[in-house]
Amino acid sequence: KKLGIVGAGNVGATLALFAVNSGLADVVLYDIVEGMPQGKALDILQNTAVIGIKANISGTNNLDDLAGSDIVVITAGLARKPGMRRKDLLMANAEIVGNIVNKLAPICPDTNYIVVTNPMDVMAYVTMVISGTKRQKVLGMGGILDSSRFKTFISMELGVSPKDIETTVLGGHGLYMVPLVRFTTVKGIPLSKWLPQDKIESLVQRTREGGAEIVSLLKTGSAYYAPAQSTFEMVKAILLDEKRILPCSVYLDGEYGAKDVFNGVPVVLGKQGLEKIVELELTEEEKQAFENSTEEVKNMIKILKEEGRI
Ligand code: NAI
Repeated sequence: KKLGIVGAGNVGATLALFAVNSGLADVVLYDIVEGMPQGKALDILQNTAVIGIKANISGTNNLDDLAGSDIVVITAGLARKPGMRRKDLLMANAEIVGNIVNKLAPICPDTNYIVVTNPMDVMAYVTMVISGTKRQKVLGMGGILDSSRFKTFISMELGVSPKDIETTVLGGHGLYMVPLVRFTTVKGIPLSKWLPQDKIESLVQRTREGGAEIVSLLKTGSAYYAPAQSTFEMVKAILLDEKRILPCSVYLDGEYGAKDVFNGVPVVLGKQGLEKIVELELTEEEKQAFENSTEEVKNMIKILKEEGRI
């Protein structure tokens, strides 16, 4: 199997390392910066010699080398800087992602796109429109990362393994994300039995601001280990046809009451990409939170349409 990674920065290169070491795919790592993807690819290849596996990875500045990829992961773009809002990234990254997808669409007609570049839900929309591919083939990564952050904070609070925690986060990958406390359990027991309401609320809030917390600690750049691992989880589910239920951003056509927008919902991931959208019954409050989240994404899509970008 062939995995094309667009953008060999922090997320892209870390994903390349995870993918190569898993032995699941040959990786082609692309970036606009000359020499950089080639250098990182060689470094990653040498790591396989240490652990003793035979793998293929190459770096390139030519998008044609991604032709025929089974999966293309898009991480190219600008990352959020301290104080920078997701919206500020919108115009710049829409142009970068739009140009790349425009070139890839004819040479990767059957590929599954996984979009990471922020604002991710909007970039996934750009990818679907520009590629003209069907909605099953375009997925945005956000919900797995947001869920992992919520699980981490619960695990730190309770001193239990995150493996025993089940949760899902709906909605856009931004301040309007909707961590579903009602569907959060520890060893099958609802979180509300483990922690008082105000504690749960503070963990939800920390999850919402999980990306910003890391940005402000790092001073330069944003999180990438957990984002790369989350993306790899999606790559694996598709390549191994796992049929796992994972929260991903997908094109909604009436599901969850939303239309013509990308937003995070639980989906079944398998070799076809998005194989099924799992519809949870939401309370009025959760529905409202989800709607706020789709509104945020729709507003950004509207700006791009007004500017003639899509
Ligand atoms: P980074 O700055 O380390 O890497 C971005 C790479 O894109 C750079 O190597 C840059 O040279 C490359 N690039 C820029 N323009 C390009 C073009 N036209 N063609 C090819 N490559 C180009 O950033 P990082 O940390 O890897 O993040 C990448 C993106 O992913 C950002 O937009 C970031 O906000 C987003 N992100 C999204 C997450 C999510 O949950 N959806 C989580 C983490 C990051």
